[in-house]
Amino acid sequence: MEEMNVTGFPKNFLWGSASAAYQIEGGWREDGKGITNWDNFVRIPGKTYKATTGDVAVDHYHRYKEDIALMAEMGLKTYRFSVSWARIYPSGRGEVNKAGLSFYHNIIDECLKYNIEPMVTIFHWDLPQALADTYGGWESPEIIEDYVTYAKTLFAEFKDKVKYWITLNEQNIFTSLGWLTAQHPPGKFDDQKTFYQVNHHAFMAHAKAVLAYRQMGGTGEIGASFAYVPSYSLDCRPENAMSKCDYDDLKNFWWMDVYAYGRYPRAAMAYLKKKGWAPQLQPEDETVLRQAAQQVTFMGVNYYQSCVCEYNTMDGATPYGTMNTTGVKGSAEELGIPGIYKNPANPYLLTTDWDWSIDPTGLRYCCREITSRYGLPVIISENGLGAFDHKEEDNSIHDSYRISYLEKHLKELGKAIEEGCDVLAYCTWSFTDLLSWLNGYQKRYGFVYVDREEEEGGTLNRYKKDSFYWYQKVIATDGALLFDEGI
Ligand code: BG6
Repeated sequence: MEEMNVTGFPKNFLWGSASAAYQIEGGWREDGKGITNWDNFVRIPGKTYKATTGDVAVDHYHRYKEDIALMAEMGLKTYRFSVSWARIYPSGRGEVNKAGLSFYHNIIDECLKYNIEPMVTIFHWDLPQALADTYGGWESPEIIEDYVTYAKTLFAEFKDKVKYWITLNEQNIFTSLGWLTAQHPPGKFDDQKTFYQVNHHAFMAHAKAVLAYRQMGGTGEIGASFAYVPSYSLDCRPENAMSKCDYDDLKNFWWMDVYAYGRYPRAAMAYLKKKGWAPQLQPEDETVLRQAAQQVTFMGVNYYQSCVCEYNTMDGATPYGTMNTTGVKGSAEELGIPGIYKNPANPYLLTTDWDWSIDPTGLRYCCREITSRYGLPVIISENGLGAFDHKEEDNSIHDSYRISYLEKHLKELGKAIEEGCDVLAYCTWSFTDLLSWLNGYQKRYGFVYVDREEEEGGTLNRYKKDSFYWYQKVIATDGALLFDEGI
């Protein structure tokens, strides 16, 4: 569309930033917390970059007051964080750990003290290990009830303080890396049948939690956060256009259609049935999914990059290519599904040191697609640049590349809003530096530099980067700074 005359963002726009418990908290065995799947997984040799763990992470567990004070100084309107299930239910179910609830009360109260809207993610990948040991975690339908009990505990406890709830973070990613490529727990390889069944259990857990929230009188916003990688066809060859269509059904709509409509995309389901990989549904499941979809009030989008789709021959790229977890540019391999699509590099886009394409327009594309396909408001629950940062001798960090990345993405988001998309919030990833699951601490995302390396032992002191001051001004001007160089 022709350039819109964007001048700023809505007055009540939620300028935010995000984190996840395992990546920031540390305190892995404190105050009654149970062991999680990640606590164990990181101890398997070769699974994480330089064997990094979240045992201490960036010690948010002890420094949350300092971190939230920094958020207040920046002017954040919302802070998205996750609750660690094993702090609340150390064994995943059974007795509640009061100390765990107190910790999150403290976080929420600290946010509210500064008028920062807490946005709570119920599950951001750290599962109580006991549930994996007892019945295989997400592989069993038993998880649905345990997840709903855990979610209801949070609703009951925090419902009067929290208005924004995210049921699951990136269901598509934790299941793909957990059951297809063995890069996340439980570390399974190419188990397609289980992968789709696990996803069905996660959908049912999400749906039943949404319904429980409403039954308990919850009137806030609730939805899931999806890792959306929008796609472009390589060119106008029909077979490439069709590969995009297949990619969208299998990699995007498979999740978003269930959250928004409560049903699976037909072509993808037909393909899975043919392969013998389709999930088994219980008689009432479709009704539950549909009812929950009517209660969902936003689509959460974690956006980092777009991709290109090209037809893939039967002996072509697979989903198992090497991922760049070192920051050595060019080390990632092309991925795809034989006979369906592959994702070649986009020659029109630059990439990060971890080979993620940088595509601000893709963010706008996501918003437009969600708006026209689902008619739902959008929360950008993550967007950001993972980069090597350098702290100067005077403790300054000049991350102009991060400012440029965020600025371009926000400009596109402004256009999406101008074009009619209802965008409620934008959360950068992340507020402080934190543990990048597979990439260690050297892949930094924060506005606030944390003094630590892969090994334990840094001071863990916090230092504001240039991007901190820049986002502070963006927020103070309601985004006008992005569109008016004179401010
Ligand atoms: C998302 C996750 O996938 O992207 C975050 O929700 C994650 O937890 C972020 O850290 C960035 O990914 P990575 O692999 O660079 O840490």
